[in-house]
Amino acid sequence: MSTTIMYGNTLAKKMSAELKKEVEQLHDVDIYPTLTVLIIGDNPASKTYVRMKQKACEKIGIQSNVVELQDDISESELLGKINQLNQDPTVHGILVQLPLPQHINEKKVLEYIHPQKDVDGFHPINVGRLAIGHDALIPCTPIGIIKLLESYNVDIQGKHAVIIGRSNIVGKPIGQLLLNQNATVTYTHSKTNNLSHMTRQADILIVAVGKAQFISEDDIKEGAVIVDVGNTFLENGKVVGDVDFESVKEKANKITPVPKGVGPMTITMLLHNTIKAARNTV
Ligand code: GUN
Repeated sequence: MSTTIMYGNTLAKKMSAELKKEVEQLHDVDIYPTLTVLIIGDNPASKTYVRMKQKACEKIGIQSNVVELQDDISESELLGKINQLNQDPTVHGILVQLPLPQHINEKKVLEYIHPQKDVDGFHPINVGRLAIGHDALIPCTPIGIIKLLESYNVDIQGKHAVIIGRSNIVGKPIGQLLLNQNATVTYTHSKTNNLSHMTRQADILIVAVGKAQFISEDDIKEGAVIVDVGNTFLENGKVVGDVDFESVKEKANKITPVPKGVGPMTITMLLHNTIKAARNTV
C-alpha cells in the first residue's frame, strides 16, 4: 500500500507565512501581538521548548518576552507576576511553561491566567468552551493535529477515532475536537483492558502515551490514519515517537513522522493562539 506521510513541518512553514501576514496587518492598525512566557527553574527540556517558542514568535513578528524565575519562587509571588501580566494591556498571551516545581499548585496557577490571554488553552473557561463547542483558545497540540488532518484531506465525520492518553494537554481536547467534527470517539489509557483490541478498531488513531515505539503494526487496522504525538529522546540521540514508524507505515493509509510531524504544528498553533488573543482585545 502506498502510505502518505503527513509532514507537520511543511504545513507549519506554510501556516507561519500566513500568520506573518496577519501580524503585519495587525501592526498596520497599531496592534503588536505580544506573548510573555514564564519559565520557573532550569529544566533543560523546558528551556529548549521556550527557546523554540521565542524563535518562532520572532520569525513572524510577534513580540516575545521570556521571564526567567528561580525555582524557589513562592506560589504567591508567581501569582503576583501573572496578575501584573493579566492587567498589562500590551501583553496579549501568557504562557507558564510546565512542569512547575513541586511546591507550586499547577491548577491554581493555570486558573489564575486571564482566560482571554490563556494561549495554552488550559484555563477551565477555555476547556469548558471547547467542551460545549463555543469559540475558545484551544490547546496547541490538538488544534495542530486537526489542521494537519484537514490539510491531508482526512475525513473525520462518521469515523471511529481512538485516542490513547487522557491528558488535559492532548488526549482530552483532541477527543473533544474530533467529536465536534462528528467522529465517534473512544478514549483509552493506561488502565484500559485489552488496549490492542481497541486500537485495532480505529479509523483514526491518536497516540499520546509518551512511551517510545509503543504501538506496532499488530495494534492497528489496515488503512488507518495514525497520528503520533510522542517525542522521546533515545540514548543514541535519536528522537522517536510512540509509534514504531517503520512497521506501522506499511499498514497505515496516512501517518505522521517523528520528528517533523505533530511537534512543529504545536509551536505554530501557539503563534495562531497569540494572534487570536491579540485580536480579541480589540
Ligand atoms: N510543557 C510541555 N508542554 C507544554 C505546553 O503545551 N504548554 C506549557 N505551558 N508547558 C508545557
